Amino acid sequence: MTRDVPRIMNLSRRNGADARAGAGPMEEPGDAPVLRAMGLSRAYGEDESLVRAVEEVCLDVPAGQTLAVTGPSGCGKSTLLQLLGGLDRPTDGEVWLGGRRIDHLGERALARLRRRAVGFVFQAYHLMDELTAAENVQLPALLAGASPRAARVRATRLLARVGLADRARHLPSELSGGQRQRVAIARALVNKPLVVLADEPTGNLDSAATREILRLFEELRAAGQTLVMVTHDERVAAMADRVISMRDGTLADDTRLSGGDRGRLGALLNWEG
Ligand SMILES: Nc1ncnc2c1ncn2[C@@H]1O[C@H](COP(=O)(O)OP(=O)(O)OP(=O)(O)O)[C@@H](O)[C@H]1O
Ligand SMILES: [Mg+2]
Repeated sequence: MTRDVPRIMNLSRRNGADARAGAGPMEEPGDAPVLRAMGLSRAYGEDESLVRAVEEVCLDVPAGQTLAVTGPSGCGKSTLLQLLGGLDRPTDGEVWLGGRRIDHLGERALARLRRRAVGFVFQAYHLMDELTAAENVQLPALLAGASPRAARVRATRLLARVGLADRARHLPSELSGGQRQRVAIARALVNKPLVVLADEPTGNLDSAATREILRLFEELRAAGQTLVMVTHDERVAAMADRVISMRDGTLADDTRLSGGDRGRLGALLNWEG
């Protein structure tokens, strides 16, 4: 394992060399990072009840990188992810996505950007219960202005890609946890996002389902999809190109995993459990 500590603020030029050229969807020209946090802070409450959930985080995520975010409960991982994806606003600092500053956009512009450029995957799936798997995947495409036919075609392709072609007409309640999460991943991909942000994507899953999700993420990684995932599971973190760990709202460690480290993934995917 190559350890670059402390190397929190990465130089985009160096990171750019990691990007798999031409592989990513909507890839940015040059070597600008897909995602950049500058002095990012989020505090809740005030005075005695002040909580500094995220404090002065600086981070560049280059195109095509798979980044795992780890750290103890309450250290600010989810808050950071929500700030990076424009689901929450910082109390200080800046967020840049695809070369554009997003933290001071108005609500509507931010919602539009989120829909187009960010794919979210949550621990609890967050699928619409009354919609089928196919409809869940189509929905963000329709909201982004795709025609019903185009949305259907994309959903069909993506459900096949996540191995659920035969479950397209099923409701979430008729699917296993792992299958639901695969629908959620298909939904996250439907608008070809610049970045997929996943918060404990395997947190509710058993080992077999976790393996399925990891295989899928590994495919996304190989296809050049930029991916940031919060995880407690070191088996999940082991598939990343880079692991950052947080402590009390700050970045405490930033580790680049070498190809050799990631080569262990094959073994990890076969773990018993
Ligand atoms: N809406 C809120 N109001 C007040 N404090 C909050 C709020 N949301 C989060 N916090 C606090 O901010 C800190 C970071 O929370 P966050 O959810 O980001 O942690 P986490 O690392 O994702 O934890 P876990 O691993 O348990 O999911 C915690 O101390 C939490 O209590
Ligand atoms: Mg969390």
